[in-house]
Amino acid sequence: MKASAIANSNIALVKYWGKRDKRLFLPYNGSISMTLDGLYTHTTVEFDSRYGKDTFTLNGKEVMQGDELEEVVNHLNLIREMAKINQKARVVSKNNFPTAAGLASSASGLAALSMAGAKAAGLNLSKKELSILARRGSGSASRSIEGGFVEWLRGEKTDGTDSYATQIAPQDHWDFRIITVITSGKEKKIKSRAGMAQTVATSAYYKDWLATVEEDLKKVREGILKKDFKLVGETAEYNCLKMHATMMTTRPPIIYWNPTTMDIIHSVLEWRDNGLGAYFTIDAGPQVKIMCMEKDMNEIKQRLKEIKNIQDVIVCRPGEGARLVDKHLF
Ligand code: PMV
Repeated sequence: MKASAIANSNIALVKYWGKRDKRLFLPYNGSISMTLDGLYTHTTVEFDSRYGKDTFTLNGKEVMQGDELEEVVNHLNLIREMAKINQKARVVSKNNFPTAAGLASSASGLAALSMAGAKAAGLNLSKKELSILARRGSGSASRSIEGGFVEWLRGEKTDGTDSYATQIAPQDHWDFRIITVITSGKEKKIKSRAGMAQTVATSAYYKDWLATVEEDLKKVREGILKKDFKLVGETAEYNCLKMHATMMTTRPPIIYWNPTTMDIIHSVLEWRDNGLGAYFTIDAGPQVKIMCMEKDMNEIKQRLKEIKNIQDVIVCRPGEGARLVDKHLF
């Protein structure tokens, strides 16, 4: 009962920030993302009665305690419950992200664990079922099951069976690119799970955020299908700023940006004033993701060299969805 899977990470163009059901990971609003080519987690899971407990090894080191181990064990419990098995598991994962990149790995990590874990447990789940399973480990992971441009539907039901990701367009649909600019390798102080709960509970702007997300979803969906870069870029950037406004107005305030984040924001706005096609988006951290078309990528990379304190620059194309692989990590 051993299986392996690879899942790419993703970046949201319309963000998810806040749960209406914390146990089932049901979001207050739908979200849209691009699955990233080249930034992935490779995971092998084996259920076996010779294991006395669940173990988790990440990037060559066994994780002995803490949130990460707890998340993996909770997810294995969900899989065991679905498959009606009780064997413990060995889980080995590797992220190919550049070290100290400070990139969130929960999306690719939980998507890969869901796919490999379900298979190793003998379950034959559809993509929809896998997305629902991944969602219960980390909301953004639900989107990494699919490739290309992906929408995670909010759903209406209280049992979560209509809250899963579907593909809007495949990875070869469009030469849209996302350049991730690393401004800090430090671990963020407030993880998204705690941060979003705090925002929902205390931000005066959260209701305003919710009131306008539907419109953003409609525009970005339409922009992707029509390959309208300006519509997608403009809407995604504004959506990011609205999400950060809810974070900043949380009590106590959640401010993920550092001075380099601000430098890049100002530069992108200036480049755009001068006619270059670039927009930014930022998640629960200080890294800036620049959206552009393939034709402008080298110019942007060149201009980024003039900004101080940038640690790394990673260019991503739209990537494929999660898949099973033959190569096992043990
Ligand atoms: O599902 P999580 O805990 O990785 O939260 C994701 C939150 C954001 O990255 C800020 C937005 C998003 O939709 O990915």
